Amino acid sequence: MESKIAPLHPLVAEPAEPTGVAEIEPPILEVQHLSLSYGKHLVLKDVTLPIRRRAVTALIGPSGCGKSSFLRCLNRMNDFVPNAQITGKILFHQQDIYSAKINPIRVRRYIGMVFQRSNPFSQSIFDNVAYGLRLHRLGNKSEIADQVEISLNKVGLWQDVKDRLGMNALNLSGGQQQRVCLARAISVNPQVLLMDEPASALDPGAAEKIEDLIQELKQEYTIVQVTHNLQQAGRLSDFAGFFEEGNLIEFDTAEVIFSKPRHHLTEAYIYGGEGASRS
Ligand SMILES: Nc1ncnc2c1ncn2[C@@H]1O[C@H](COP(=O)(O)OP(=O)(O)OP(=O)(O)O)[C@@H](O)[C@H]1O
Ligand SMILES: [Mg+2]
Repeated sequence: MESKIAPLHPLVAEPAEPTGVAEIEPPILEVQHLSLSYGKHLVLKDVTLPIRRRAVTALIGPSGCGKSSFLRCLNRMNDFVPNAQITGKILFHQQDIYSAKINPIRVRRYIGMVFQRSNPFSQSIFDNVAYGLRLHRLGNKSEIADQVEISLNKVGLWQDVKDRLGMNALNLSGGQQQRVCLARAISVNPQVLLMDEPASALDPGAAEKIEDLIQELKQEYTIVQVTHNLQQAGRLSDFAGFFEEGNLIEFDTAEVIFSKPRHHLTEAYIYGGEGASRS
């Protein structure tokens, strides 16, 4: 079944398909000199990096270095933190998402997010996945039903839940709940998916399914994931950034970061650094 929800863009037109030379395509997101403080606490310090379209970018680093904070800047989730202050720019298709003209709700439609702890609403499975479609008025009743099916199919859950779409999503297993959250995120046809340790609260089997899913979803979406699992990040990612104490120490292809990092701090973290899990 084809999705009827057009991948429209709120800011500018979707760029043409890549010509095959990824390097010449401008990044879908460009972070420029981003600093973030919570009150007086500076947690991100002048971070600049590109996010390439239809690639997986991993953000790694010790606990508390600012990975989640950084991720939340990318779709203005930090707007909900009262004392968060941001300087610098984040360009989405070359337009600053923090510009006064931009509606943050629209930003979050195109740049969706999945959190570490699955957080389905205490509502039916159907209503969870239909949430964003209704919020953004994307389709009539039957189009929404179709899109819910498409989204649950994409996350490999449709067969399991098609006969109990009215059941409260909180009754599903942890792994299934996380997939409902993913279905909720992709139902509105976002362009970018931000994932904050999406598999870390799951048992190994469920975590593996999420990993397989990331692999599949990267054909269609740009993915930015925070992870402590370096092996998973090495397998799945195309690019990676290593953070320490709010500084982006190194950003490069995943191959360089995970097998021949240039910076000694990255190397120390990758090869047994504090807080790193290689499992
Ligand atoms: N809402 C908030 N208000 C104040 N300080 C915060 C807030 N969220 C995070 N921080 C602080 O910002 C710093 C970075 O936190 P963040 O959660 O981004 O780190 P992280 O790299 O994601 O860590 P972890 O790997 O443990 O998830 C920490 O010192 C944290 O205590
Ligand atoms: Mg975090």
